[in-house]
Amino acid sequence: MLRFLTAGESHGPALTVVVDGLPAGVPVDRASLDGDLRRRQGGYGRGGRMKIETDTVEVLSGVRHGKTLGSPVTLVVRNRDHENWRDVMSPDPQPPEAKRRRALKHPRPGHADLAGAMKFLTDDLRDVLERASARETTARVAAGGLARSLLQCCGVEVRSHVLRIGSAAVAGEVGWEQLAAIEDSPVRCADGGAAAAMIAEIDRCKREGDTVGGVFEVVVRGLPAGLGSFSQWDRRLDGRLAQAMMSIQAIKAVALGAGFQAGDTPGSRFHDEILYDDERGLHRGSNRAGGLEGGVSNGEELRVQAVVKPIPTLLMPLRSLDLRSKEPQTASVERSDTCVVPAAGVVGEAMVALVLADAVLEKFGGDSLTELLDHLETTRERWRQFLARRSPDPEER
Ligand SMILES: Cc1cc2nc3c(=O)[nH]c(=O)nc-3n(C[C@H](O)[C@H](O)[C@H](O)COP(=O)(O)O)c2cc1C
Repeated sequence: MLRFLTAGESHGPALTVVVDGLPAGVPVDRASLDGDLRRRQGGYGRGGRMKIETDTVEVLSGVRHGKTLGSPVTLVVRNRDHENWRDVMSPDPQPPEAKRRRALKHPRPGHADLAGAMKFLTDDLRDVLERASARETTARVAAGGLARSLLQCCGVEVRSHVLRIGSAAVAGEVGWEQLAAIEDSPVRCADGGAAAAMIAEIDRCKREGDTVGGVFEVVVRGLPAGLGSFSQWDRRLDGRLAQAMMSIQAIKAVALGAGFQAGDTPGSRFHDEILYDDERGLHRGSNRAGGLEGGVSNGEELRVQAVVKPIPTLLMPLRSLDLRSKEPQTASVERSDTCVVPAAGVVGEAMVALVLADAVLEKFGGDSLTELLDHLETTRERWRQFLARRSPDPEER
């Protein structure tokens, strides 16, 4: 239902995204889109590039007077640093010096350099890394802001926070309310003690020319039950979320709810009991499933965790080679971050919002927001009746 394509290189003129399938009437607030871009650029442990770029969104199509038109929305984020790369990134033929000036020949273990060089048969790794770079996630975050706006209209809110950086971790579950002021933490962590330990870990890695990864969690409130389907493998919402999260650069594992503990917890302590009382109605005793059962949303908070690897560009580089001569060399060093876990959480929010907006449109549909909200309200009313019904079991009558 909702599709998007990003384009653009890390040091090219701009990142662009075309989002197709949004209904008419969804509010588009540029300040809010820019706010998400700023959050993606922030987080303790980012490098010098983020100081050069102050990302802002330009809207080229699909929006009029602050609302979507139902036509494709095109968003553009200019790369300010492009000024310094005009000849290197020029689409027109250039003298050989322009290519040589920023050529990379020593592939970085863990980056896309070597795999991309073999794929495209190029020995100038710049041809590869310019697109493989996570600068591309700027466009995803911009698109995610549109999805977030649609979800907000449906009463769905998306937040994220950091659970672990290196050996520093939050103990226990973090509640929704604790996430309200998450941007006040430089590492986007709800636990002050753990945040201090995370900052110390990043500082140590930076001093040692090393990098550090971690774990973040995206939490979603207000998600209607019944999104996704178990009837076909590719309609399962868990699979769609995992694919979207795994597509983020440097994400190496994804879990729903307490999924990372599922392999070593007995069923009696893993599954969420189904309870009923007059005050709360039907409810669950816990939410280790993370809001999805059978690939379908069950009305509980959605929780998705992702493991971010330590980023590959190291100031103390690992062993590599010169792609042409095959002589041993240390890996190339580009201006780089030390830790991107807080920023990756913001990208995770965007990807989750895009998948959920798609799933909401799939179930409730409509060409305009008004129609979509009508369908949603009708279904919510049916759920209210379904869950409130306390009729005797027909078998026993
Ligand atoms: C927000 C964000 C920023 C990143 N910044 C860097 C960086 O500065 N240097 C780097 O080597 N990798 C960085 N990465 C990771 C690489 O883009 C990624 O490792 C690379 O594209 C290879 O993809 P893979 O790790 O998914 O295999 C970043 C990732 C994210 C999510």
